[in-house]
Amino acid sequence: MEIEHVLVVGAGQMGAGIAQVVAASGRRVTLHDAAPGAVERGLGAIEKSLVRLAEKGGGDPAAVLARIDRADDLAPADLMIEAVVENADVKRDIFRRADEIFPPEALLASNTSSIPITLLAAATSRPDRVIGMHFFNPVPMLQLVEVIRGLETSDATAAAISALAVDLGKTPAEARDLPGFVSNRILMPFINEAVYALLEGVAEPEAIDTIAKLGFAHPMGPLALADLIGLDTCVAIMDVLHEGLGNPKYAPCPLLRQYVQAGHLGRKTGRGFYSYA
Ligand SMILES: NC(=O)c1ccc[n+]([C@@H]2O[C@H](COP(=O)([O-])OP(=O)(O)OC[C@H]3O[C@@H](n4cnc5c(N)ncnc54)[C@H](O)[C@@H]3O)[C@@H](O)[C@H]2O)c1
Repeated sequence: MEIEHVLVVGAGQMGAGIAQVVAASGRRVTLHDAAPGAVERGLGAIEKSLVRLAEKGGGDPAAVLARIDRADDLAPADLMIEAVVENADVKRDIFRRADEIFPPEALLASNTSSIPITLLAAATSRPDRVIGMHFFNPVPMLQLVEVIRGLETSDATAAAISALAVDLGKTPAEARDLPGFVSNRILMPFINEAVYALLEGVAEPEAIDTIAKLGFAHPMGPLALADLIGLDTCVAIMDVLHEGLGNPKYAPCPLLRQYVQAGHLGRKTGRGFYSYA
């Protein structure tokens, strides 16, 4: 089926980025978020990003923004891309409600970092049309889309989502629906170990990140990356890995959990392992 209109649910850092790249591809986007003011903040972030890209020779920001409208609740489209908080109950409720109002042929995708696609699909009457479409942060800059098939995802659904990713200028890579898929199965233990190094006083945050940047040629160190992702999201992903794989090596570092308890979630709250004035 043609994907011409996309509902993006969640207007946080990922939902805003996803809405931006979908609208920039010429498609119509409806953006919904449950928190008051979140869609406005998301649209503000999109505009800033589009203006920066235009200065480097990108297209007209106003034309892209004109393709994004907002909705106070879920609204039907050809495809939903869900990008709300990393919480299985919240996501399952959205999939159940979307299933009731979307046309039967429409596709339902999640940008989840770790929650089983099969679990989200089971909340719907169309598990063959449910899939993981996992973008990377910042969405307008990073090339990868990890495509995750649930147990019952059809070949046609996977092909349609991979084709859409290519049309958005991204490169799709398929992963099976096992905890953390590929990306976070590798990335999160790396970040978690960096937090343990900090907790145990092996080095200061700047030194830990410098070692990863200069020693491993990573564009940013693991602590700065955790701040970018959101420490709440990191803990949620580690919990899924820990519970789903049953190995204590995936337990979130107590220091990571403590930062979340203190409300220091990284860039989005102005403070994490670093301060963002
Ligand atoms: N942060 C990253 O680097 C990253 C990368 C890839 C995937 N993800 C995944 O993307 C998703 C969103 O992450 P984020 O970093 O954008 O989080 P965020 O905290 O920036 O935004 C989440 C948004 O979801 C909204 N929300 C919560 N419950 C809702 C509901 N019931 N209905 C509608 N909106 C609701 C919140 O109001 C908030 O605006 C998560 O599943 C996360 O695991 C994050």
